[in-house]
Amino acid sequence: MSRSFYVTTPIYYINSDPHIGSAYTTIVADVVARYKRMMGYDTFFLTGTDEHGQHVLRAAQKAGKDPKEFADELASRFVKLWKDLGITNDAFIRTTDDFHMKTVQDFFQKMYDKGDIYLGKYEGWYCVNCETFWTEKDLGEEKVCPTCHRPLEHIEEENYFFKLSKYTEPLLKHFKEHPDFVEPDFRRNEMLKILESGLEDVSVSRTSFDWGVPIPFDPKHVVYVWFDALINYVSAIGYGRNEEMFNKYWPADVHFIGKEINRFHSLIWPAMLMSVGLPLPKKIFAHGWLTVNGEKISKSKGNAVDPRILMKAYGIDALKYYLLRDIQFGHDGDFSEDNLITRINADLANDLGNLVHRTLAMISQNFDSLPTPKDEGEHDEELKDLTLKTIDEYFKFMDAFKFTQALESIWKLIRFGNKYIDLTEPWLLARDESKKNRLATVLYNLSDVIRNVSIMLSPILSNTSEEIFKRMGQTAKSMEDLGWHKTLSNTPIKVEKPLFPRIDTKKWKKVIIMTEEKKENVEKVSGSSKPQVTIDDFAKLDLRVARIVAAERIPKSEKLLKLQLEVGEEKRQIVAGIGKVYTPESLIGREIIIIFNLKPAKLMGVESNGMLMAAKDGEKLRLLTVDGYVDPGAKIS
Ligand code: ME8
Ligand code: MG
Repeated sequence: MSRSFYVTTPIYYINSDPHIGSAYTTIVADVVARYKRMMGYDTFFLTGTDEHGQHVLRAAQKAGKDPKEFADELASRFVKLWKDLGITNDAFIRTTDDFHMKTVQDFFQKMYDKGDIYLGKYEGWYCVNCETFWTEKDLGEEKVCPTCHRPLEHIEEENYFFKLSKYTEPLLKHFKEHPDFVEPDFRRNEMLKILESGLEDVSVSRTSFDWGVPIPFDPKHVVYVWFDALINYVSAIGYGRNEEMFNKYWPADVHFIGKEINRFHSLIWPAMLMSVGLPLPKKIFAHGWLTVNGEKISKSKGNAVDPRILMKAYGIDALKYYLLRDIQFGHDGDFSEDNLITRINADLANDLGNLVHRTLAMISQNFDSLPTPKDEGEHDEELKDLTLKTIDEYFKFMDAFKFTQALESIWKLIRFGNKYIDLTEPWLLARDESKKNRLATVLYNLSDVIRNVSIMLSPILSNTSEEIFKRMGQTAKSMEDLGWHKTLSNTPIKVEKPLFPRIDTKKWKKVIIMTEEKKENVEKVSGSSKPQVTIDDFAKLDLRVARIVAAERIPKSEKLLKLQLEVGEEKRQIVAGIGKVYTPESLIGREIIIIFNLKPAKLMGVESNGMLMAAKDGEKLRLLTVDGYVDPGAKIS
């Protein structure tokens, strides 16, 4: 019986075009699917689009389109992009597919029949962007979404609820018994914390609009879009329609998702599955967020993060290599165009490109076809050992989704391959007819390294590997072909143009431009060299009202005054450079504003524990004070 492997991406909202963020998860899932196929697994790789709900409805309305027509258009752009990126998904599910909607209804009915669904009234907050209900206890003073920071809407609706609370204990048990259920471990711990504080029932239907799946027993309700969406993972593989297929692939081996939707996947989805009596997915892997050149990915603005533009400029393989190599999978990371170019030049053009080019060129200069090894010599053993060690490490890292480490390991081998050329000096061997056998061996060994490297890189540098096999006349296709001296001899060799041309950084025109948003920000703060900050940045400062109770000059300084302050219960000493403008006496009793949580510092040997604020215009300087009296210690916001 063949082993199966089922891997999924989130199904993406179609309120806007795909971007480098959605491409990232899809590329990673594709790499894993390709890897598993090459390992001999009967693999099913699913992606798709999430098309119901208020967010999409509003986007359609804004575009002046009927939601289905809008969905058809946007979904086709995802389909096309994945095709252009060479993504090998086995199915593409749309939540507007009839079979899916039917499955959602059946699933919901089952939960209802089980007694897990009840009618109630929801009164609280909703983030339309994230399609998420938030309760007061999740929120601060300001009613903004804890995930995306957009303003929330208050809703009051008759809703059906899911008895999620009932599944707290079973879930805790599952988490304890399956320590790898959620990865990375810091994401698992977040989920455990939520579980330990107890789950609350969740609203799972909406009545204020009808763009969704009608609830079979009460069709004025549509199923909450997240419920609808999560069910895609089982509906796509035939749940309730094709038992044979369903049993082959379920439970999923891994759901790849971004960290912001972990709660839905690691808590709510498993509880839904428990409710209908299905086994849980084996793993949920919640990766981090990408920024682009340090900037948050902006779906709504410009083409700055359009994967197609990156693909055209740099090629699919380089893009995939960069994403897997430079972004530590699981952690947040920055997509930096400069770093991408560096990787192309250093790793791909230089290390890998040179190894292949030098080897194939020497073979074609000295032999009619790929030679057979005949005469072992110095450094061969080392090359062999490193090759075998790399293969071992490769499996270990790939199985753990540690792509960066897998690639680092392969690159050690590639670099040693180049070094082996320098050590064995094949150009000298070529000059001496009596060393022809040794030359054959050296070049065969190098070919063998290249072949192994190409197989290992196949899931990532898919086109490049294919091209290398072609140039070497090899047919290797599976991970079983990895190993020492499995290269086919006597195959014709083709020397062609370099695999990765170097990018001349002086002449190269980069393709990532600033988004409109960033440009606006720069404009808004122009005249200042400082970047725009968020409310969170500001919230880091603790500003307080302080009363000056004593002041004196610091000896030998014209400018510095030593001030004693009262800040609430606390006494503080600060040093301030206002001595040219204010006399110490004139300051006593005044209320000023200080940065209360500034790191202490010493000025002319005197300790300063905070900083006062003043308006400055050239030489003119005026203290910031309070308009009317407040108690010292009052906070400023
Ligand atoms: O959440 N960095 O859809 P969505 C890394 N429809 N990954 C990113 C990213 C970024 N900056 N931005 C997006 C939804 N992603 C739901 C999912 S699943 C049953 C329903 C990726 O269009 C990442 O995988 O908002 C993230 O979880 C996903 O896109 C969110 O896509
Ligand atoms: Mg999102």
